[in-house]
Amino acid sequence: MDKIVSLCKRRGFIFQGSEIYGGLANTWDYGPYGVELKNNLKKAWWKTNVQERNDILGMDCAILMHPKVWEASGHVHNFFDMKSDCMNCKKRFKSADLKDDAKCPECGGQLTGARPFNLMFKTYQGPVEESGNEIYLRPETAQGMFVNFANIQDARHPKLPFGMAQIGKSFRNEITPGNFTFRTREFEQMEIEYFVNPKDAERALGEWIDSRFNWYLGLGIKPENLRKRQHGKDELAHYAHACMDVEYNFPFGWAELEGVANRADFDLKQHAQYSSKELQYFDDTTKEKFYPYIIEPSGGVDRAVLAFLIDAYHEEKVKEETRVVLKFNKELCPVKAAVLPLLRNRPEIVELAKNISADLKKSFTAVYDDTGSIGKLYRRQDEVGTLYCVTVDVQTLEDKQVTVRSRDTMLQERISIDQLKQYLINKLS
Ligand code: GAP
Repeated sequence: MDKIVSLCKRRGFIFQGSEIYGGLANTWDYGPYGVELKNNLKKAWWKTNVQERNDILGMDCAILMHPKVWEASGHVHNFFDMKSDCMNCKKRFKSADLKDDAKCPECGGQLTGARPFNLMFKTYQGPVEESGNEIYLRPETAQGMFVNFANIQDARHPKLPFGMAQIGKSFRNEITPGNFTFRTREFEQMEIEYFVNPKDAERALGEWIDSRFNWYLGLGIKPENLRKRQHGKDELAHYAHACMDVEYNFPFGWAELEGVANRADFDLKQHAQYSSKELQYFDDTTKEKFYPYIIEPSGGVDRAVLAFLIDAYHEEKVKEETRVVLKFNKELCPVKAAVLPLLRNRPEIVELAKNISADLKKSFTAVYDDTGSIGKLYRRQDEVGTLYCVTVDVQTLEDKQVTVRSRDTMLQERISIDQLKQYLINKLS
């Protein structure tokens, strides 16, 4: 884990948030390569789950929602962790993590008894800070989709089964965030709410579990690092009938990447009751009216990025030196090609390399880099997982060919400049 955290900072994937002020604990900023990786991951999710399907509609809902949403959803009354405070050092702990529930694990001081702690972030809407203006930052993106159930039916008339999908930020005042970006207070979720006839719920749950599990494998996670784990009855969220986690083998142990839950008709019924709006589905074939069940695959973007970073990390010996390479698959890798001038003091070479990179950038993510010797530049590009390095040398000025080096095989080929873009596009498709 230390190697990943250090590589992320060194190469510009992820930085500590507010670092020049000593950092704000457990906040992280995605740098130039991190944001490309994260965007590629979100694009891949959207493509599979929205664009390639006929039955899922994309959404992008507000983070701030009517306070009644969180009463109806059960979050005001049920979204708690139990916490214990140290009476000596004042540190706060999640009670479930404590080995000894009387003694502080840090200073040995006496702990308070376990007390409920609501995980929602509260703030005020408008200029007046009074209880009537209290509002929450959403702790899950799901509710934005439930409250739009009637709008979607009116606007698009979808037939069951159908779903809504959304990617967006969520906020939880976690008692014990940690393990780099694994558990933070501000994070991004990618969620699908799939509405089904209750009699089809079990089958749909099974199909979604397999579909989500296979999505991670398809993007390159090693099978031995992925597993499914069924939730015990005592672990289930207040709204869930059943839940299966997709877990990744992180350096700190197996942990949840995504949960696939059967939320049954809890949410639509609650919102119908609290809003007094009709949120049932009318089946015009059977003329039945009912609340659909909801199958919910809910994954974390930041956790997935972390898992893909860890899974891609390789060290290998090359001529007595250690080569560090991030072996992302071609869809996720942040940069597809880097154009490097062999001699940065030769203006004709530099100009040609810049022109080539400008042309490649029109078709995929490419960078130009002349900030070191060619050996150093290759090593840097390997460390961020760049698939191809294109080198412009003296010979290029004469034969109009460049050297293309593959990240994975390290083999080099001479390719003519006018065929280069198509050559790379073929490799990337
Ligand atoms: N709508 C259902 C829901 O929110 P969840 O299991 O609480 O379910 C879903 O969260 C996913 O969101 C998790 O599998 C995880 O990937 C991500 N997630 C939840 N809390 C997180 C946190 N504090 N930091 C980072 N990711 C988190």
